[in-house]
Amino acid sequence: MTADQLKAQVARAALDYVVDGAVIGVGTGSTVNHFIEALATVRHRIAGAVSSSEASTARLRGHGIEVVEAGQLERVPVYVDGADEIDGRGCMIKGGGAALTREKIVADLADRFVCIVDQSKLVGTLGRYPLPVEVIPMAVAQVARRFAEMGGRAAQRAGVVTDNGNAIVDVAGLSITEPLSMETEINQWPGVVTVGIFARHRAQVCLLGTSEGVRTLKF
Ligand code: A5P
Repeated sequence: MTADQLKAQVARAALDYVVDGAVIGVGTGSTVNHFIEALATVRHRIAGAVSSSEASTARLRGHGIEVVEAGQLERVPVYVDGADEIDGRGCMIKGGGAALTREKIVADLADRFVCIVDQSKLVGTLGRYPLPVEVIPMAVAQVARRFAEMGGRAAQRAGVVTDNGNAIVDVAGLSITEPLSMETEINQWPGVVTVGIFARHRAQVCLLGTSEGVRTLKF
């Protein structure tokens, strides 16, 4: 099975977590694009979607799914999104698509985070994938120096401006053995908008695409 087929398979499996009559939280990325296609087939069953990026909003609307602003919602029952890495506790690295801030906002509204990934994303320790961080532009050099002090190599992602008008810094060389404490620390640094460690907002369910079928991990 190709990577794309594995993504399509987990995206379809995520329909089992869609709650009738509810607004569904929808993430960003190539795996979620498959989920949006699947969601369109049941759009009459849901009240709409809350989206984590301009790209997903356009795609949802293109499929005839109503998009509700996050500010109009208090809770949603489920948020479906991909990840760049996920560990055995459901902690994730996210932000490869530069949408991490809005992803964390929508994840915060959700009762349950359902992560859809192919098996290549499951790791023992987070950090092989360079950690994305959304940073206010004037703080990029300062934040990069702080990462160097903890052994990371930070580089600003070329040509990328987030939906919120900020920069993305990708940090290689980290071994994230304590995701929650590292997330908490980096979030305190001046100029950091959001760090792409999702430990406080970790997944409760991971649908893992394998060539033998979808494995469900619960955390
Ligand atoms: C978007 O900013 C990311 O958090 C994505 O969820 C992540 O990069 C996974 O994307 P793919 O499904 O394209 O691998």
